[in-house]
Amino acid sequence: MSIPDPSKKFIFGSATSSYQIEGAWNEDGKSASIWDTFSHKGKIKDKSNADIACDHYNRFQEDVEIMAQLNLDAYRFSIAWPRVLPLGTGKPNEKGIDFYKRLCDNLLEKSIRPFVTLYHWDLPQILEDKGGWTNRDIIEWFSEYTSVMHNALKDRVKDWIILNEPFVFIVLGYLLGVHAPGRRGFKNFFRASHHAMLAQAASARILRSLDSTARIGTTVSCTATYPARDNEKDRQAARRFDAFYNRFYIDPVVGRGYPMQDLPVLKKIKKYIMPDDDKGIQFDFDFWGINTYSTKLVKRNRVVPWLGYRELKRKLPRTAMGWEIDARGIHDLLMQFGKYPEIKELYITENGAAFDDRVEDGRVHDMNRIHYLNQHIDAVLKARANGVNVNGYFAWSLMDNFEWAEGFRPRFGLVHVDYKTLQRTIKDSGYWYRDFISGLKTKS
Ligand code: FCB
Repeated sequence: MSIPDPSKKFIFGSATSSYQIEGAWNEDGKSASIWDTFSHKGKIKDKSNADIACDHYNRFQEDVEIMAQLNLDAYRFSIAWPRVLPLGTGKPNEKGIDFYKRLCDNLLEKSIRPFVTLYHWDLPQILEDKGGWTNRDIIEWFSEYTSVMHNALKDRVKDWIILNEPFVFIVLGYLLGVHAPGRRGFKNFFRASHHAMLAQAASARILRSLDSTARIGTTVSCTATYPARDNEKDRQAARRFDAFYNRFYIDPVVGRGYPMQDLPVLKKIKKYIMPDDDKGIQFDFDFWGINTYSTKLVKRNRVVPWLGYRELKRKLPRTAMGWEIDARGIHDLLMQFGKYPEIKELYITENGAAFDDRVEDGRVHDMNRIHYLNQHIDAVLKARANGVNVNGYFAWSLMDNFEWAEGFRPRFGLVHVDYKTLQRTIKDSGYWYRDFISGLKTKS
């Protein structure tokens, strides 16, 4: 069994995250994460929680079988920190670690390359009780967790992703309070942001020092933005949006600093920056993962003065999340960040769509998703043809799962999950993706 060759060119995969699929929330020594606490407090739209979710923890073999049937080159998943370190730090939980080893072994047997995300939002509650991301000690906690996971999976994994979408977990979790841990306010937001950047770089440096052959990346959520009208006011609004949604968690890492000039409110972060932090947050990643789903049209607006922009609704088709479908965004983002000389390689680490799927006679005819994927993959390959070094696409998601504050209603999967029986049914989009991948393989 060997790790598939990372020099192989464009790869197609799918992505998931631990809390959204694993279930087994308190099995085999796992402690609670902030999402367990948050959902148990009834904070989710449909009052659900992911105690069971897709029960992937107990059904991972079947799920890897499905991935093999879909012809996937790679699979991006995340580690549940409270499963492997129930106290957040200290004594590792061998049973939890073992689960990820077996998952990787199954993937490698099928020649599917594991891309491991270290943090996809399920912080151990015990660390949140000490302040979570607002406590600067998280740099040490996260570093320790990184070493534990590297030690556990070093023979099985080469591709590491440090964080999933800092913008989303920090803005929704620490500024607006609509995601776990449900905290609010600028103070929490700026502290958590800066600490996440420091912890990210510290973790990446540890991986680099432990393994010079590891390929180390991180992911960001991005939304391509366009000015409503072609005038300076709206262009400025678009720059502000771009600074906040897209560049805030990229620019400081590549040495360009926080984009305070385009969005002055970001200056408030200075309060939390200590001497040498400018260097401390930088890391020369091997690759950057972009997660993107939609685009935005914005105009200047002073209703929320610190933002200075307003999003406009368009008459575009929408997904079940209400997100407008506009495939040019994925192309334009790749062009935008492909131009950064500091960014060596890009992946689309998430892209996909939720629709109201139905199983009919054992099939799910999700033409809308096929259309979405087709358009978006096309746009990615166009950016690649235009010279961007983008080398992979991960569909979100392998299977229907728990969509955070939205609960189970939005279905993003290539595979349908019946949450009562836990039966998996490959959707037409899954078969389409399989055929698309094999078509490309025969050509090359
Ligand atoms: C992203 C998250 C992912 C999933 C998709 C729809 O922001 O990273 O877990 O929920 O959105």
